[in-house]
This record gives sequence, structure tokens and C-alpha cells, in this order.
Amino acid sequence: MKNNSRRAFMEKAFGAVAGVGAIASLYAMKKTWDPLPSVKAAGFTTLDLSAYEGNKLVTEKWRGKPVFVLKQTPDMVEVAKKKGELKRLIKVGNDYYLVALGLCTHLGCIPGYNPDTKSFLCACHGGTYDSTADVTKAPPPRGLDIPPFKINGNTIVLGEEGPEYKQMLKEGITLRV
Ligand code: FES
Repeated sequence: MKNNSRRAFMEKAFGAVAGVGAIASLYAMKKTWDPLPSVKAAGFTTLDLSAYEGNKLVTEKWRGKPVFVLKQTPDMVEVAKKKGELKRLIKVGNDYYLVALGLCTHLGCIPGYNPDTKSFLCACHGGTYDSTADVTKAPPPRGLDIPPFKINGNTIVLGEEGPEYKQMLKEGITLRV
């Protein structure tokens, strides 16, 4: 091999090795950027609805936010039916549940629930909501928002968009959160 062609060969070989090295380090960097599988899964919260009791508010957590779960008693269902608010509730089997973000739609305070009056009061500026978390007194501009959910047997998965949630969005029952 002449000197010139040897140099060309060496340059090509070096280029090829450097290329492989660059791809390897890009791959390593991508692996670092990708979220861990457990972090991805952390965007979802699964709730077994059979564990809840009627008219007893339970505060769960989804993506760091409080989520109210309130199983409706038969009389609460009757009232909601009369007000045309059943559509705000999630039906699983024969039972209805309110599942809503526990953050006031005015300025984000956490409302408190009174099981005697079956209503929520936001102490920050006096806004109130009924037992389906629809607003009954301003200043909140709307009812509590409903997180994306998917019904799966007796459980719901928060963070997944099932057909019932998509229908709520379509009917303007909740905003996308
Ligand atoms: S933050 Fe709830 S009424 Fe203002």
C-alpha cells in the first residue's frame, strides 16, 4: 500500500470507529433521558370501588393531586337524578360514584365535605358544591373537574381515557385536566 492510500484507509477506519462510538453514546444518552418504567406507571392510579362506603368521602391521590371519591347512597342518587346530574357520576355495577379532583375550580383550594348536608364548602371564598360536586354557589365557575378514568370491572384506572370519560368531555361535563 502506498503512503497516500494507507493514510486514506486509516482515516476511513478511524471514521467508522468514531461513528460507532457516537451511536453508542447517543444510545446511552437516550437511555438516560427515557423515564423509568415505574415513573411511567406512576401516572396511573387504580381504585377498587367496591371498598368505598356510601356518603363517606375518601381522598385519594393521582399525579400528586387530591381526588375525591364519594359513593352515592340511594337517596343521593335520587336527588342527582331529579337534578339531571347523574351524568356527572361514574356508574359501576348498580352503584354510582363521584370521582373528582379535590381542587376548587375558583382558585384551587381544597373544599371540605359535610355528610349531614351532603355538600362541599370551599372555605377560601365560600363557594359550595352539591354531592355530585356540581357548583351550587359562586365564585367557582363550574363543578369540580373529573380526572380521566377508565372502568375496568370493579376498578377504575385514573389517567386512562375510557369511553365514559370521553363522553363526559364531549358533553362538556368536565374540562380535560
Ligand atoms: S378557591 Fe374555592 S371559592 Fe375561591
